[in-house]
Amino acid sequence: MEALGRMMEAVVLVFLCRLGGLGGLFPVFSVGNTNNGTITLTHLLFANDTVVFCDADHDQIQALRVVLLCFEAVSGLKVNMDKSEMVLVGEVWNINFLANFLGYWKKVGWLVGSGCIYQKEVEENVKCNENGAPVKRLRRKAIIVHAENIAGRRFWNEHPSLLKEVVGFTEDVDKIKLEYVRFFQFENKLMPSTWIVIRIDGCHFHRFSEVHQFEKPNDKQALNLMNSCVVAVLQEIPDIIFGYGVSDDYSFVFKKDSHFYQRQASEIVSVTVSFFSSMYAMKWKEFFPLKELKYPSFDGRDVCYPSDEILQDYLAWRQVFCHINNQYNTCFWMLVNKKGKSKSEAQDYLKGTQAREKNELLIKEFYIDYNELEPMFRQGSFAFWEKEDITLADENGASVANSHNKVTVEHCDIIKPNFWEAHSSILGEIVPKL
Ligand code: GTP
Ligand code: MG
Repeated sequence: MEALGRMMEAVVLVFLCRLGGLGGLFPVFSVGNTNNGTITLTHLLFANDTVVFCDADHDQIQALRVVLLCFEAVSGLKVNMDKSEMVLVGEVWNINFLANFLGYWKKVGWLVGSGCIYQKEVEENVKCNENGAPVKRLRRKAIIVHAENIAGRRFWNEHPSLLKEVVGFTEDVDKIKLEYVRFFQFENKLMPSTWIVIRIDGCHFHRFSEVHQFEKPNDKQALNLMNSCVVAVLQEIPDIIFGYGVSDDYSFVFKKDSHFYQRQASEIVSVTVSFFSSMYAMKWKEFFPLKELKYPSFDGRDVCYPSDEILQDYLAWRQVFCHINNQYNTCFWMLVNKKGKSKSEAQDYLKGTQAREKNELLIKEFYIDYNELEPMFRQGSFAFWEKEDITLADENGASVANSHNKVTVEHCDIIKPNFWEAHSSILGEIVPKL
């Protein structure tokens, strides 16, 4: 117990020193009066019982918890939780929170020793009126009562106003009990030092593209709208280094050491998706001035990739998907629109065909060289920050060379290593600056 006393003193001293004696996480209470002298008090020890005094303050409870844990660890003794009790003086609105935080105090009492201190409304004579009659006012006054058996019914019957206070108090605490719901919230932090990829995807875009009469298989304006939204996202969220997308699907890559939303997955996904969606709606008229927009929505998911190589493989996978899809869709819609085949006939026709056969079909039947199709359709879109040289005029009108970073959208092969060699700064993480 002596050791616990020393630890308490140390905590009080440390905090007092740190705060220049202005008071700290662990308070010192003054007892006594100026006539007879005062003593300062933090705790009382008797045999193996300890009473610790503190305010109803989360930081102080936290400090106490640390002291007790340290004491248990150092001494090998155990604090007997079953016999421990938090004793309140006056109303403590956050008692449930404090008791929960301390974890092991099962009981919460309002009683001090064999007595109890509580606030009571009493009538007091405050002055006399002009006739000399006393003027009474209601005042709240601290009352100390003593009883042998404070748990017995008789004690409470004799102090009805105290019972009223306690009931009122219990009702308040009941409200605070609802705080327990926050323990259901779990942090879902993305792995540190990994590339964060947020992939968004248009919801039911097969229907959306029909409702808005998109050109088949690729609608250039729809893809330009997607790219324009991506540029806006990159400008809005500086931790995104680049994005790669095809059709209704875009992957945004955040820098490895990003602390965006403390790497909380749900926040990062929701912010990215909602910003993209609102951009899509806002920019719609710019790209489709004559079409009314109906219900666009996007979903999103997060994945972390630990190395540059795996990230590059992921991007390669997306671009291969783009190529296979586009080649198939180009053949499919040519067979339907130009050869008059039904959708199921076109499907059967293409079943099991290889890339080379599809290319031959396009050349022989439709005089289309697949490799001459728009790069945006064949290779998707890659949006990234790039340094651009610009010329500015100084105050004398003379030209001054300068540079700034801007978001560029390219349609190129991102699978071959020479793309990454030519854009070595991308994975080297240029810090975007507008
Ligand atoms: P979920 O993503 O699961 O909600 O389904 P989805 O209907 O969005 O399908 P998915 O994301 O797999 O594919 C996107 C779909 O959007 C394509 O299959 C096309 O039907 C449609 N789409 C995307 N871009 C274009 C386009 O430029 N033109 C046309 N005509 N359709 C497009
Ligand atoms: Mg989709």
